[in-house]
Amino acid sequence: MGRVALVTGGSRGIGEAISKALQAEGHTVAATYAGNDEKAAAFTEATGIKTYKWNVADYEASKAGIAQVEADLGPIEIVVANAGITRDAPFHKMTPEQWSEVIDTNLTGVFNTIHPIWPGMRDRGFGRVVVISSINGQKGQFAQVNYAATKAGDLGIVRSLAQEGAAKGITANAVCPGYIATEMVMAVPEKVREKIISMIPAARLGEPEEIARCVAFLTSDDAGFINGSTISANGGQFFS
Ligand code: CAA
Ligand code: NAP
Repeated sequence: MGRVALVTGGSRGIGEAISKALQAEGHTVAATYAGNDEKAAAFTEATGIKTYKWNVADYEASKAGIAQVEADLGPIEIVVANAGITRDAPFHKMTPEQWSEVIDTNLTGVFNTIHPIWPGMRDRGFGRVVVISSINGQKGQFAQVNYAATKAGDLGIVRSLAQEGAAKGITANAVCPGYIATEMVMAVPEKVREKIISMIPAARLGEPEEIARCVAFLTSDDAGFINGSTISANGGQFFS
């Protein structure tokens, strides 16, 4: 059944693959982005998927953007909170700005994305919420105190939402990707990246489509009894 789906950070990287996978499932997708207009325009040109620009760290902008999407496409029944950033530094070098930017985008951004959509899902008695967490929220990571805190926080969010939404036909789940071949991972210095890959049993980075397939499953009507769970897709790097 075709539904309206919102994917934050849906214009490139993992989000792009998620947007395309949901479109392939027959859903009408809205993909958001922060500032890379060129990439967003190329993405819309290639896929026909509408893009919307707002900063997920800004509650009022998120609320207004979501209202615009619903005016254009109809009520949002699937939401994928995917937008995220890194500001890596060992803790003794991490600045308060690096801490706040990551918390505001990756954690508060998830609240800002789901909160305006949630009441409509409750009223209609159906919803699918997926948050893109990370292996590093499960195991921690050198130089990622800020990032790991947000990604561990995502798991608390979905486990709580699962309990609140279950009686209203809403599920909330997380996907924890391992290291995936996107610009985020390519920004890690090459030598460090090679060392990371050598620690992955699959001996390679994951592909964005391997995460998108998890999301397509969790957002399907068939996944209604899966709630508050976490799918780890990390090439065997970590078990939880
Ligand atoms: N474990 C233990 N020690 C480490 C380490 C590690 N993983 N990485 C670096 N160190 C050590 C270094 O060897 C160095 O030791 P010495 O002082 O004894 O020489 C010390 O820590 C400091 O290293 P640097 O001076 O190189 O630190 P820096 O300030 O230049 O920071 C860095 C470099 C930011 C840590 C860089 O190495 C880096 O980007 N690392 C990768 C971090 C990472 O995995 N990020 C994930 C990004 S992708 C993502 O986040 C997606 C996802 O969800 C999976
Ligand atoms: P990416 O390639 O850097 O793409 C990030 C996307 O998020 C872009 O569309 C970007 O928009 C958008 N975005 C960033 N900040 C935003 C903001 N403040 N408001 C709105 N949109 C914003 O990242 P990725 O690797 O695909 O990662 C996607 C998600 O997966 C993140 O939450 C990340 O933490 C998580 N994850 C990634 C990996 C990995 O290995 N890549 C592993 C585990 C988890 P612009 O194009 O406009 O910049």
